[in-house]
Amino acid sequence: MKRIAILTAGGDTPALNATIYGAVERANQLGVEVLGIMKGFGGMIDPRLPYVHLNPLFSTIPELDPCQGGTLLGASRTYIDGDDTEQMKLVTGRLEKLSIEGLVCIGGDGTLNGMQPLSEFFPCVLAPKTIDNDLGLNYLDEPNEYVREESPEDDKPVYRKQSSRDEFELSDIVNYATPGYATAVFVVAQAIQRIRTTAESHRRIAIVEVMGRQSGYIALGSAYGQPDIILIPEVPLDASLLEHRVRELYDLQKHVVIVIGEGVVDSTGHWLGAVSSSVDPAGNIRFSGAAEQLKKILVGALGDDVFRVQRRHESADSAIFTRKVGHTQRGGRPIEFDRFHAAQLGGNAVEMLVHGQNNTMSTLQWSEQNGFVYESLAASKLRDRWNVIHPRIVHPSLYNPKRFQPSKLGVQYLMPIFTNAIGSDDMEHIRADLFSPGNLATRYQSVNIDVQKRLQYLTDD
Ligand code: F6P
Repeated sequence: MKRIAILTAGGDTPALNATIYGAVERANQLGVEVLGIMKGFGGMIDPRLPYVHLNPLFSTIPELDPCQGGTLLGASRTYIDGDDTEQMKLVTGRLEKLSIEGLVCIGGDGTLNGMQPLSEFFPCVLAPKTIDNDLGLNYLDEPNEYVREESPEDDKPVYRKQSSRDEFELSDIVNYATPGYATAVFVVAQAIQRIRTTAESHRRIAIVEVMGRQSGYIALGSAYGQPDIILIPEVPLDASLLEHRVRELYDLQKHVVIVIGEGVVDSTGHWLGAVSSSVDPAGNIRFSGAAEQLKKILVGALGDDVFRVQRRHESADSAIFTRKVGHTQRGGRPIEFDRFHAAQLGGNAVEMLVHGQNNTMSTLQWSEQNGFVYESLAASKLRDRWNVIHPRIVHPSLYNPKRFQPSKLGVQYLMPIFTNAIGSDDMEHIRADLFSPGNLATRYQSVNIDVQKRLQYLTDD
């Protein structure tokens, strides 16, 4: 292969540039040219096919900085329609006109849905990314545990996990951690530590909402910030157990910190924070306010007296406050774990393409004996028998719903990712750069301005 293309699709993560960087550096070693397609599949559908040459003379362009969050190529949640064969042919025709021989897609499940039909016409591999850590499997036969049922509400079928293996080995996990996850947890753990001391001083109950859609990995990892209670989407809310624990903790320490995953459901299976009519272009539900809804539940359950008795607060409403960590989880400088493994996964994806693979995913595996290694997996292994990719969920054995904390195995799962996740340069970066006087004198220099100068179009040729 002499020339390949790369794109970033779906929501951004802090590690996208690191993945692109790893891919381009490996391509330099292999003597392969890399063209970056702008704005994910949106750029592929555009007849002008906007692109940037990422390694002229097999040297990585300086704008590609693996320490910079986001993606210099831009991202979009526009996807190719897998049933539109005409569109597929148009897209591959455009790639061929630029002499592109293979495509690396950096993305999550939505990207895989776009990439797999394309791979019928053109060699494609996926390098994974998602802060939600939900692209992967706890073990290889997990997709077989789903059943399909008719929905009582509309004509779309509902997929439900019927069972889960009681036990599994951590080395069974496909994609132990996806690039972006570690940095998201880094942000969340710090947010919790900061909210803790203010809740502690003012005798308040803090509810911190974290991202992750239907998967509770970010909430699980938030344990590093030592919240008192962690609620994950995989376990329906047990309101009376929660109330009991909150009363117990408030009585003991005069404040409580609760973390709630945005996709937590009530005992009937309804999302606490869903605006059900709102979905993104990939069909994912947009969550709006699990924390606010939980506050309403606690205000009702605890009442004002708990707070008034010792004159701590006038009312439950003023004592309980909510904060969303929000998009800060998705942005900024990636920590070392993400930078390193994202780059390796990108490099691995390029090698997979060059060695003739198609429709496969670059994966990060872990075992006690070997630590982290990079492998590849047929992308179809992620699908159930109806061809659906389900978000990987936190396995029941990783979380203790009685204690609202990670289980023993959950702790064992987290340790390989986080024990050495922060590099000394990450801390030095904060020390040296955050309060640099230069920040006051110079405006932010957007990579978009520099990349624009390198932009080329298929229609130029
Ligand atoms: O999938 C990544 C993610 O950050 C989710 O955790 C979150 O629900 C969603 O994207 C937010 O998407 P948007 O940026 O479109 O609001």
